Amino acid sequence: MIKFVIVVFTLFCRVAFPVKHSLVFSLTASSGVPDFPEYMGSALVDEVQVGYFDSNTKTAEPKVDWIRKLIKDDPQHLEWYVNKCIEHQHFFKATIDSLVKRLNQTEGVHILQHMSGCEWDDETGESRGFHQYGYDGEDFIALDLQMLTWIAPKPQAFITKLRWDADKARLHRDKYYYMHIYPVWLKKYVQYLRSFLQRTGLPSVSLLQKTPSSQVTCHATGFYPDRADLFWRKDGEELHEDVDKGEILPNHDGTFQMSVDLNISSIAAEDWKKYDCVFQMSGVKDDLITKLDKSMIRTNWVSPSGFPAGAVIGVVVGLLLLLLCISGLFIWRKKTNGFRPANTSDSADRHSDPN
Ligand SMILES: *[C@@H]1O[C@H](CO)[C@@H](O)[C@H](O)[C@H]1NC(C)=O
Ligand SMILES: *[C@@H]1O[C@H](CO)[C@@H](O)[C@H](O)[C@H]1NC(C)=O
Repeated sequence: MIKFVIVVFTLFCRVAFPVKHSLVFSLTASSGVPDFPEYMGSALVDEVQVGYFDSNTKTAEPKVDWIRKLIKDDPQHLEWYVNKCIEHQHFFKATIDSLVKRLNQTEGVHILQHMSGCEWDDETGESRGFHQYGYDGEDFIALDLQMLTWIAPKPQAFITKLRWDADKARLHRDKYYYMHIYPVWLKKYVQYLRSFLQRTGLPSVSLLQKTPSSQVTCHATGFYPDRADLFWRKDGEELHEDVDKGEILPNHDGTFQMSVDLNISSIAAEDWKKYDCVFQMSGVKDDLITKLDKSMIRTNWVSPSGFPAGAVIGVVVGLLLLLLCISGLFIWRKKTNGFRPANTSDSADRHSDPN
């Protein structure tokens, strides 16, 4: 029993959890864009948005369950983010205003973007910070955290470089955050994430089919982060024809799911064993491989054998005629009013990237 638990645990670590982790703050300030928040900030852990702030709501909103848990344990952590965002908002606005003046630009639409954070390798223990700005869609200035100096790739940013290089207190504060504080936070986030994933369990891959002739859907769910791929192979080669790949969608618990359909109509029964479905996680060596095998397919389809088809059709036609007589006008009215199926799509929950 203990052996089994250990096997599952190591398999889980290897399958579901990459060793490289990242914490990224993505901030965007704009001027002259109507109906758009002047300032928006997102925090991303392993490229998944975990928190969001904008100047309209003025509050930092946790986006995934494990961050909600962390904030419950440590409410000051959220407060720190809210204060930092408000502070940044003023700094960004002042920076745009001074750039517009200094670059002799007209008022109108201007966008200042900021991307910063750190990466941490769970295996080597190495971490790396980064801190850079873009202005009006182009690289503007970046901080070299080793040399503690700003790098301006364009002459327009040169005055900014001189000014920011002179602000030694800010440089040392930045270095301290990107080299020490944020890596510690990232490790803490990864701990929460890991225990959350241990509760949600292994990512699972299953084969589903509506009827014996319809396409076979390979469905993977419960994985995190969303850097994954799912595809069909024949004789070990990825298939591009007769497959229909869906998007990666979020589950309610913060994990992700995706599926890929295989059209089996032209596959002979003896060739089924040549096919398998592969789930691949970016940064993880071992793939989850599921063979195309009738005994592995889950279906709700019930064989109608033994039930005379003629009788079924007769009953259905009779019922339809009856229904039409009773409510024909009603159905017609509904249709002309635009009769739409209820939207049950999960994708409505997706949060758009603020960039
Ligand atoms: C902006 O205009 C001033 C005065 O017209 C000029 O001296 C300066 O070089 C201009 N700056 C830029 C960046 O074009
Ligand atoms: C599957 O392939 C067959 C022929 O190869 C085609 O007629 C059929 O429309 C395809 N089914 C789907 C769902 O794409």
